[in-house]
Amino acid sequence: MLTLVTGTTGQVGRRFVPRLLAQTRPGERVRVLLRDASRADRFADLGAEVVLGDLRDDDVLGKAVAGVDAVVNVAAAFRGVPDEEAKAVNRDAAVALGRAARAAGVRRFVQVSTGLVYGTGRGRPLVEEDESRPGGAMWGAYPESKAAAERELLALDGPNGLDLRIGRLPFVYGEGDPHLADSLRWAAHWAPTQRLHMGHHADVAQGLLRLLYAPAVNGPIHNIADDTPVTAVDLHQLNGAELPVDMHTRTDPDPWLGIMSTQKIRRDLGFRPIYPSVWTARDAGAL
Ligand SMILES: NC(=O)c1ccc[n+]([C@@H]2O[C@H](COP(=O)([O-])OP(=O)(O)OC[C@H]3O[C@@H](n4cnc5c(N)ncnc54)[C@H](OP(=O)(O)O)[C@@H]3O)[C@@H](O)[C@H]2O)c1
Repeated sequence: MLTLVTGTTGQVGRRFVPRLLAQTRPGERVRVLLRDASRADRFADLGAEVVLGDLRDDDVLGKAVAGVDAVVNVAAAFRGVPDEEAKAVNRDAAVALGRAARAAGVRRFVQVSTGLVYGTGRGRPLVEEDESRPGGAMWGAYPESKAAAERELLALDGPNGLDLRIGRLPFVYGEGDPHLADSLRWAAHWAPTQRLHMGHHADVAQGLLRLLYAPAVNGPIHNIADDTPVTAVDLHQLNGAELPVDMHTRTDPDPWLGIMSTQKIRRDLGFRPIYPSVWTARDAGAL
């Protein structure tokens, strides 16, 4: 089995690839696609094959999927990029990768997505069957571009197409990722009770590996997250920050925003978070 992984220089991918390589059996191989040749050595040293190039280049996609059995598409553009780039990478290149994979005879395709595709809360944990309503000013084109990729990749799913598995991630943290500190950029403006659903890198990798290796899935979409969304107060405490003086006067406009059910991946694929809450990860020294 040869597995192609994209986005391996990013926060999720760079922590996922060593875990994937650690699970490979004799004869299984991993190929990574990355843009920056100076960052290739680390992956080659770990035992991965390296293809250099940009996801938006069809020739690169052809080389990347040649001989591959499975794809894990981690790559995305959303950290401070123009909306056009977000659409080009997250939607167009993801769908082009799906088409290239199908044309090359690849069956299994794991698409890394985001819980932001759900949009507004539903007054209960979000389940995979809920319709996508991406939107909101905070994230620009990112949620819609990821939702569009899901829709178009789902059209390629089927017995004669891709065996698609979509993992929707929460706010990912841990292992030195500065994301937890970044959370205060938003949480500093929230009501004290407003919550953020999170997932540690170890658990995101666990969820993606379960999606990659499961012989069959009960529907393509799976939420991946921990058991304990944290409040804006927790986020300040975790970061050692004072609470804003007026925080107690604010109210939470949508208490179920971004809160995902993990019942499906628990029941069907045996997922159990290694770090059920960010506090467990803190106590384990895994932040
Ligand atoms: N982190 C989170 O909290 C979170 C939450 C929900 C969902 N997700 C999803 O998880 C995935 C990974 O997120 P992340 O936090 O690891 O993002 P990240 O740190 O920004 O990494 C993005 C990766 O995508 C690559 N990439 C971007 N544009 C590319 C292009 N045109 N061609 C080839 N590679 C390209 C980047 O390569 P360069 O290094 O060359 O730029 C990098 O490896 C994404 O699909 C994202 O939607 C993340």
